[in-house]
Amino acid sequence: MSSDSTTVWEQIADRSDGFEEQCLLRAPFRSPPCRLDDLTRLIRSLSEDPDYAMVTRMLDVTVEGNRRASLKPLVLDDPPKPGEGLAEWSARVFDGRPFGLMVNAVERWSETLARAGAEFFAPARSEFGIPQLSFRISLFLGNYGFTPSGVHRDIGRSERVFHYNAGPGRKSFHSWPVDRYRELTGSTRPSHDPEPLLPYGTGHTMEPGDVLLLNVSRFHVGRSDELAATVGLEMSKMPPGEVLKEATSSVLTGLLRERSAPLHDTEFWSEPWDYTDTAWADLPESGLDAWVREAVDSHIARQRSNLGFSTAPVPLNGVGTDDLRPAAVRLARPFPLVLVEHPDHAEIFVRGVRLKVPRDGISELVDELSSGRELEVADVVRRRRNPDLALKLLTTLVRLRGIDLVRPDCAEGAR
Ligand SMILES: [Fe+2]
Repeated sequence: MSSDSTTVWEQIADRSDGFEEQCLLRAPFRSPPCRLDDLTRLIRSLSEDPDYAMVTRMLDVTVEGNRRASLKPLVLDDPPKPGEGLAEWSARVFDGRPFGLMVNAVERWSETLARAGAEFFAPARSEFGIPQLSFRISLFLGNYGFTPSGVHRDIGRSERVFHYNAGPGRKSFHSWPVDRYRELTGSTRPSHDPEPLLPYGTGHTMEPGDVLLLNVSRFHVGRSDELAATVGLEMSKMPPGEVLKEATSSVLTGLLRERSAPLHDTEFWSEPWDYTDTAWADLPESGLDAWVREAVDSHIARQRSNLGFSTAPVPLNGVGTDDLRPAAVRLARPFPLVLVEHPDHAEIFVRGVRLKVPRDGISELVDELSSGRELEVADVVRRRRNPDLALKLLTTLVRLRGIDLVRPDCAEGAR
């Protein structure tokens, strides 16, 4: 995949006039970013995620053109059974009716896609870096005809999407520059009657295995008359103001989580409180400028550890220190562990999660893990001053999917 990604990246950059124009590459991957079985597993993993609020926020289901929240349990309560393919499952669950299923941030639920996506975006990271670019992966599955939201543009961020068609059917995309669309329709409102506009747009049909670049700040519409599963590898350009907002809000949220709130939330009755008195929040004493710079540094370290994805993977539950003792571990490549050392403690950023750890001996441990070699846990732990603490830390890193258990067989770290 990694040599593939550079070639695909360069070909698309060339043929799309620097990621502006829609363009199609015929089956460019020697080793594809995912197979249909990986997507079946993804839907199962989505249904098993204990964070139901997150799952329902990221999932959208449409049946016969109607998008309704009440359709989500159809998917979540009855995911594909072991051995059941996507076509078979969707025919069963949606009873043969045309349907569309969209999941955002699937890097949370599929290790295969998260790792393939991170490799695919390697050329983007080396050219533009983090945090200028941020990434997300979405899944679009169905035989829903035209995109349920009609011909539309995605406004807000400057974003480009590389669609990969995993099959089994074909899927088309059409797009129009904003001025051209305005000329054709007389406005910039979405259109729910795409057919008459198609001859005036740029259109491509993707066969299974093809990759298509879509500039989603132009008007666009997808068409899926045959059952197809496409994966959208999305990259957004981050304005500095957006990074600053995300960074400071995440640091402030973390700080306040550690404080006890000065008002009691057990009853509604009003309590006298001076909201300008922020002494309870025990905010850092440095000036705003220094505080913001530290927040941005920390945000970048977090993003680097997740290679630009903003959503962390669902934790691997059910793994304990007893599973690790007889096992070996290895870095979950291509994701790095990012270490930040402070005078009295250290932080390890792992797949987008921050861990506060004692400083003593931590950089040697992170170096050893970062070598990417397979390491016997017993050996790594024995050489530490506090073996129990080291074992606990390794277990946490496995749960957060920053390192994989490579033995025993019960581990599913590389999924
Ligand atoms: Fe869109």
